[in-house]
Amino acid sequence: MTVRIAPSILSADFAHLANDLAMCEAGGADWIHVDVMDGRFVPNLTFGAKVIETVRRSCTLPIDVHLMVVEPERYFDDYAKAGANVLTVHAEAAPHLDRQLARIRELGCKAGVAINPATPLEMVREVAAQLDLLLIMTVNPGYGGQRFIEYTVDKIARAKQMLIAAGSHAVLEVDGGVTRETITRCWRAGADTFVAGNAIFTASDPRAEIGRLRAACGVSV
Ligand code: DX5
Ligand code: ZN
Repeated sequence: MTVRIAPSILSADFAHLANDLAMCEAGGADWIHVDVMDGRFVPNLTFGAKVIETVRRSCTLPIDVHLMVVEPERYFDDYAKAGANVLTVHAEAAPHLDRQLARIRELGCKAGVAINPATPLEMVREVAAQLDLLLIMTVNPGYGGQRFIEYTVDKIARAKQMLIAAGSHAVLEVDGGVTRETITRCWRAGADTFVAGNAIFTASDPRAEIGRLRAACGVSV
């Protein structure tokens, strides 16, 4: 299995976004993670279609859009048009998951569901076979730079079992507090895709940090 590293531009320097994206690409990043927050589902407010479009123009990597918003279906068309490759909704904010996943796929994107640390896996079990991606939050969403919540490691392992039982080959992604230290436990538990904001953008050598995170999974760079 391969390790995917997805730098989160939430921690990037917005005055030099194109430079930061070029750095991610040169450092071997696999995806670019874009955190959309609406100030309602989460307390923080970030960006929307315009930034997704800017990322699309500035780099060639797949764009992984994490929708921390209520009524996410209002944005699917615009974000797909702006160049998103993955659209992930929160189960807590999306009561019609079946319909929403189908709509995301209709638009030509990969369909993902995220769950908060306190949300049980049961919320997504019935749609496990329809998922292209399952995102296990390892912090409470809203801000970069938070501390990894340790009890989520066990949930990652159970999520992996749930996907296998459903015959799903969905990507198993983790997001929040991922560092060279915490990534190893998540990888061993079964995650394959790792969002990292703070760990990459505050590193003394951000470009090298991408490879170091990958190496911490015991996979050669
Ligand atoms: C948190 C966001 C994350 C965030 C991760 O709400 O979903 O993607 O950028 O940042 P770090 O890696 O700094 O915890
Ligand atoms: Zn995120």
